[in-house]
Order: sequence, then structure tokens, then C-alpha cells
Amino acid sequence: MLYRKWGNESDFVIRFTSSWDKDRKMVEEVKLVMLVHVLELTRVGALDRKLSARVVKSLEEFEMEGEGYEDVHEGLEAFLIDRIGQEAGAIGLGRSRNDHVATALRIRMRSSVLELLKLILELRRTALSRAKDSIHILFPTFTHLQQAQPSTFAHYMLHIDEELSTIWQSLFCSLKSLNRSPLGAGATVGTQVPLDRIREAKALGFDDVLVNSLSASSSRLDLLQVSSMLTLYVLTLSRFAEDLVVYSTLGIIELPDTHVSTSSLMPQKRNPVTAEVARAKASDAIGHLVALFTNYKGLPTGYNLDLQEMNPHYWELSDIAINTTIVLEDIVKHLKVKENSVEGFLSPYTLATDEAERRALGGVPYRTAHAKVASEVSQGIFSPTINFQQSISLKRVVGSPSPTVLSKDLERGWRRLEEDEENYTRYRTAVEERLKSVEEWKNELLR
Ligand code: ARG
Repeated sequence: MLYRKWGNESDFVIRFTSSWDKDRKMVEEVKLVMLVHVLELTRVGALDRKLSARVVKSLEEFEMEGEGYEDVHEGLEAFLIDRIGQEAGAIGLGRSRNDHVATALRIRMRSSVLELLKLILELRRTALSRAKDSIHILFPTFTHLQQAQPSTFAHYMLHIDEELSTIWQSLFCSLKSLNRSPLGAGATVGTQVPLDRIREAKALGFDDVLVNSLSASSSRLDLLQVSSMLTLYVLTLSRFAEDLVVYSTLGIIELPDTHVSTSSLMPQKRNPVTAEVARAKASDAIGHLVALFTNYKGLPTGYNLDLQEMNPHYWELSDIAINTTIVLEDIVKHLKVKENSVEGFLSPYTLATDEAERRALGGVPYRTAHAKVASEVSQGIFSPTINFQQSISLKRVVGSPSPTVLSKDLERGWRRLEEDEENYTRYRTAVEERLKSVEEWKNELLR
């Protein structure tokens, strides 16, 4: 116990208020932030070079062992003092856990967002490849979960790509506010030590600093922004998961064996378990987002320990988004469209709209044609003049399943994907390049 000097600490209170176990998720980031702080203290002459070199070496050996600490920051400082002696307490100058946790949290979030962005790009690539191979593969569309009009599987896959790219762009943009460094903001108003916050930010891979020290030490707006995006993303995946359940139930797709499980009693069952769990994970995600929002609502400006309780919700949310993406990508890659079943499944009545449109284009008011075809359908005397493939080919507008139109949309999808991949790689490389400067800085000190 390093920070509670009055000596009345009780186990159950520490256990209740400590974030020690939850902090494991960002221990490496906490060490990195401490490293940069120590290097900067040394650079400005506030820390003795020899002592600093010893701290830097010991820092590498820190592992989260033991218990009774309020958090990883206390555990780390106690470890360094234990290793080096009381003089290691010098590293407490010019820093607060408030700016340190805010910084480590951002670095950890940046990694998880980058990981997820990469996985979504892979999922988009898979969806586009499936679209490319299924331009002529018949598939139903539904409104109100009733058969609507004939389409193709490629068209459905391009829908998935469209949704994913929309979210991808927003998530990628959120890096802009997320990737700013709070380090150097101290507990609330900065410090007398002339730390170069911009230099520290660069060494930690940030694009910029989160300027105002109150914001830097106590804002979680960016965490909420990313969490909202993650939740929207998982919600989108849950609709897709539901489609997989419905389509496999209707027998028009076959889910890969690895993603279905049987019943312990009913031998014929192929239950779409992966898709069901994916669907349910979205509820957990909403729960975490609601917890984050309600935690943040009405919090007074400046650091409050409530903020600590937000972190684990973010870890969970991010794991849900990442893991759901991985399993769904595997399903998209391996599912089969059962073409014969689709033929048998599609009702000829899904051609009723084409018939009404044909008559309307021939001069009959659409409302009249609509009523006439509806009455033919209800009397059971409707007989289509075209087949499903012809119906699909007749569609003219951008975004429709007609092979000539869809091929262009597919091209557009590939171009958009390649552009996003390039932007992603450029961004990631820039972050990694900046991070390399810490090593150089460290070696300079240790020389
Ligand atoms: N463990 C806290 C967190 O994760 C940081 C500690 C801030 N504590 C304090 N007394 N100011 O947010």
C-alpha cells in the first residue's frame, strides 16, 4: 500500500475499489507510458540519468504479481521502489494516475480499434469475393419477412459490404479524436515540470495531444464515441446473424458444419448456434454501452473514480466486436447457397411487381395495374410472363441486382475496399513509425 498513508486500509474496501485485476488488459501500455514519462523527466533534467537508467531496466521486469494495490499504477510504483530504493519515488514527479491511465487507455483502445478495422476489411473482402462468384445465383428478398422480389446472392453480399463499409469509415474517423495524448496533464492542471507533451505524444504513437488538461485527465468522450460505433457495428452484425438463422431454417443456405450443433435428443437437428450467439452478443454490447452512458451522465468535471469503472465495459465491448467478426467471416466464407432449394422456394408471385410495372409502362396507371394483378393473385389466376432471371435482368437502377448494374456496383465495392485498405495501412504504419522513436530515445539514455 503506497498511496494510503494513514494506515487504516481494510481488505474488503481495497477489493471493492481496486482496478488491479481489470488493469491487466493494459499493463504493457501502462509500462510504455511510464517509460516515456521517465525519459522525458530525464531529458528536462528533473531525474538523474543513472537513476533513470535503473528505472528503465526494472520497468521491463515488472509483472502484475501480488495483490492489495489500488491499481496497476500503484503496483508498478511500489515495484520500482522495492527494486531500486526510495529514490525511485522520484518518478512520481509531474505525473498523476489520472493522466497516465487516460494515456494507457487510449493506446490500448487504438490497438483494439486497429485490430477490428483490419478484421472488418477482411470480412468485406470475403463478402465481395462471394458476391463476385454469385452474380447469377438466384436468391429471395424479403420485406416483413414475406417473400418480396427475386434477387441474387451477390446482391445480398453487396448489401453486407455496404453496411460494413459505412461503419468502417466512421470507426476509422473516430481514431482522429481517440489518438490524442493526455500525458502531461497531471491530475487536473498540468505540472510545474516543463514536460514537452508533444514530444511525449509522438513517442507514444499519437497523432496529437488532447490539449486542455481537464479534458486530458478526465474526459472519456472518445471512449464513448468508439463504444457507440462498436455497438452500432455489433447491432448490424446481429441482423446479419438473424438472416443466417432464417435462411438456413428456410433451407436456402447451408451453414458450415463447424457452425452448427445438434440436439442431445433430436438427431436430425442442425442448430445455427454460432449465428444465435452472435445475435445475442449484440444485447451484451448494448448493455455495456448503457452502463458506459449512465456512468458518464452527470459526472462532475475533473477525474472521478467512476471513470475507472468504465474501462472493463470497453474491454468487453471490443472483445465482442472482434470475436463476432471472426466467426461471421468464417461463416460467410464457407456457407453454401442451395440453388435448387431457392428455385423451389421462390414463389411465382414474387414476379407480380414486374407484371404490374410492365403494364404501367405500357400506359395503364400503376394503381390500376397493381389492383388488377393483386386480384389475379388472390384468385389464383396470376401467371407471370417472365422468369426469375429475366425479372432480375430487367432492373435498371444503381444498386439493383441486374448483372450489368451489379457488376459496376461490385467494381465500386472493390475500389472502396482498396482505398480503405490503403488508408488503413498508411495510418497504421505512421503510428508504428512514431512508436519506434521510443526505442531510440531509450537506447540514447542507456548508452
Ligand atoms: N485506477 C484508476 C483508473 O483506472 C486510476 C486511478 C485514479 N485514482 C485517483 N485517486 N485519482 O481510472
